Formats: sequence, structure tokens, C-alpha cells
Amino acid sequence: MKFPNLKIVRHPLIQEKLTRIRDRHTGSPEFRILLSEIAELMAYELTADFPVRDVVVETPLAVMTGAELAIGVTLVPIIRAGLGMLDGILRLVPQAKVGHVGMYRDEDTLEPVEYYGRLPKDAADTNIIVIDPMLATGGSCSAAVSKLGESHSVRVLCLVASPEGVARMLEDHPLVTVYAAALDERLDHRGYILPGLGDAGDRIYGTT
Ligand code: PRP
Ligand code: URA
Repeated sequence: MKFPNLKIVRHPLIQEKLTRIRDRHTGSPEFRILLSEIAELMAYELTADFPVRDVVVETPLAVMTGAELAIGVTLVPIIRAGLGMLDGILRLVPQAKVGHVGMYRDEDTLEPVEYYGRLPKDAADTNIIVIDPMLATGGSCSAAVSKLGESHSVRVLCLVASPEGVARMLEDHPLVTVYAAALDERLDHRGYILPGLGDAGDRIYGTT
């Protein structure tokens, strides 16, 4: 299946770590470390075309022109599971501001329920990265992007996407690119991604 709004990040280290994270025998401590490492590696790819501008820097020996990011960065993790990817990305972009969106899926309707939202005031003037490991029906991510205002400056960083979720994002927010480490097969009858990795929030926080 080919989606114009999807970029799969196929770096060997990401794929190797993703395989370990999918393993049902991987416990929360290792799961958290792997998720953070994958997020860092994926953020490196996602930011590769961010614009830079000239900046003058004095080295101990001379003055030269270097580079700095031309546009600010806002990270928006969807609580809970998105928080598991935040520190990895902040290691690469420590100057980023962080907004939070609290969202959970109603187990019966699979519709997202929002319970928290706080965004930096200038978020609309920055490159925004919405962070959530799982893009299942796409409902949570689509609702989060709706709060931010759709534009080419908004990107989604997830670990595992379903075809249903990517299609939903394409329909609701066609300007937004989704970066994923894998496009899995489909959703099961409870809206879980197959083969997936199970419930990301539960696996991060040990609440199974
Ligand atoms: C998970 C996941 C996404 C959402 C994806 O969160 O982290 O936010 O489900 O599903 P969707 O694409 O069908 O909306 P969950 O609702 O389990 O909440 P949690 O992170 O608090 O565990
Ligand atoms: N949320 C998860 O954590 N996992 C899925 O497979 C689907 C939604």
C-alpha cells in the first residue's frame, strides 16, 4: 500500500530496536529505553530538511559563519504514550518547546477523549512534531492535529502505523506528513494494530 502522506524510516538500527520492542517478553525498563532511542533516531531523519540560517560564531581561533535552525520547534506528545518518546527527541533538539495533549481512546467507541491541553503560545509559528508511538484508527492523532491547525509545518512522529490510521490522517489532514518506523497490516476488532506491539502506554508504564 502506498500513501503520499507517509514516510517510513527504514534505518537498520531503528528496525532492529523496533523488533525488540515488539517482543512480548520485553519488559517496561527495556521498552522505555528502546522507545527513547528509536525516537531520537527517527527525529534525526524527520528534521533533516529543517531550514537553517547563517549565524556568526567565534571559535577560540577565529570568527566564522555557522548555522542555526531558522524556525523554532514545538514537540507535542500525546499523553500518555507519547511521553515515552519525548526525552529522546529533546536530546537532539533541546531548545524545542513542549506542548501537551492528554487523550485516551474510549474502549467501546474507539473515539478519542481529550482531558488535557496546553500549548506554547507561539506554536503556530514553529515546526510542530506531534508524538505518539501508535497510529491505530488515527482518531487521537487527527484530533491533536486539529487543535494545532493543519499546515505543512506539522509532522507526526509515530512508531507503528496502521493503514487505517494513515488513510484517516490523509483524509482529515492532507498537508501533514506521518513519519513511522513501520506500516503494519491492519487493526483487529478492538482497534489494536496487528502485529503491532500491544498497548504502548501499558507497556511503557507497566499498567497491564
Ligand atoms: C493509545 C496511543 C494513541 C492511541 C492510538 O493511547 O498512545 O494515543 O491509543 O489509537 P487511535 O489511533 O485509534 O486513536 P491510549 O488511548 O491507549 O491512551 P494512553 O496513551 O493513555 O494509554
Ligand atoms: N493503542 C495502542 O497502544 N496500541 C494499539 O495497537 C492501538 C492503540
